[in-house]
Amino acid sequence: MALLFQSAVDNANWWVTELKRRLPNLDLRVWPECGDPADIDYALVWKPPLGLLADLPNLKAILSLGAGVDHIFVDPELPVDVPVARVIDDRLTAGIVEYGLATILAAHRRFPEYAQNRNKGEWRILSQRTAEETRVGILGLGVLGTSLAQACVGLGFQVAGWSRTSRRDPLPGGLVHHHGNDGLENLLAKSNILVCLLPLTQETEDILNRDNFAQLPKGAWVINIARGAHIVDDDLLAALDSGHLSGAYLDVFTVEPLPQNHPFWRHEKIILTPHIAAVTDPRSVADQVVENIRRVENGEVMHNLVDLTRGY
Ligand code: NAP
Ligand code: GLV
Repeated sequence: MALLFQSAVDNANWWVTELKRRLPNLDLRVWPECGDPADIDYALVWKPPLGLLADLPNLKAILSLGAGVDHIFVDPELPVDVPVARVIDDRLTAGIVEYGLATILAAHRRFPEYAQNRNKGEWRILSQRTAEETRVGILGLGVLGTSLAQACVGLGFQVAGWSRTSRRDPLPGGLVHHHGNDGLENLLAKSNILVCLLPLTQETEDILNRDNFAQLPKGAWVINIARGAHIVDDDLLAALDSGHLSGAYLDVFTVEPLPQNHPFWRHEKIILTPHIAAVTDPRSVADQVVENIRRVENGEVMHNLVDLTRGY
């Protein structure tokens, strides 16, 4: 049984150690050293080169190294009959909640503006809303969005979330739920701080655009922890430059690493990080990879299976 590991950002040696500890007999190949492509049963991947997966004729399952799977579905040659599983992991969720809270609280307490005033040697007390007066809107109320929403509710913010479908399961007390197009309008109009935790699909690409920024209250903040292609970059720059938006925290970009000549690097209202909101940790995630291999070998359905028609 052979597994191909492929990632330009995850630590291959660390993954090999964690997988070998759990499955000593696994034949582990680290891309680009694939050997005979016909040997490969499983592919554990992050942003695989286009066509790579189609070239593995006996592939039984594709395992995403992240929570998102857009990096797999972008491949026009993706084999349609091979199941795809993604990561759902408490450590990864904790990373998103930490990043979300850190940026929401910094925006709420106006730290970026105080940092700018400090650089100017300016001692100035800015007006301050309470958490109860501050409305946090979260686009995407799945595994990650729901956990962040819960943490925000715990801090006393007014919190609303938006998803594709209506939900029947109980939501954290106080969390307002919207869905569909009307739901988006309602949420945007009431979000002083807007956080994006949507999966990237055809429906959600470019969703953070001029029209939707215009629906946010003046002075709102935008925090994008999902994927860069949710944002129309020029529309964000225009909304910041006009003063309609106060600022943006960005962890993800359409092209990563963000090209040096991109205006985001130098914009005074943008604070950016290099896609580190939540990093997959092989010490916790290797267990679900091994369990999914076991399940496929036994003819069972994998955990965290992705719906190929929805694309997330
Ligand atoms: P998830 O559990 O699949 O949740 C996705 C949520 O988005 C669901 O609530 C879903 O609605 C909603 N959604 C999907 N399409 C929609 C649409 N067209 N309109 C409205 N809502 C829509 O995903 P997750 O585990 O929370 O992860 C979300 C994303 O976070 C990942 O796909 C990935 O891109 C990103 N991420 C980023 C980092 C980082 O380090 N920056 C780390 C991990 C993940 P339904 O509930 O109705 O299905
Ligand atoms: C990271 O971006 C992930 O999808 O896990």
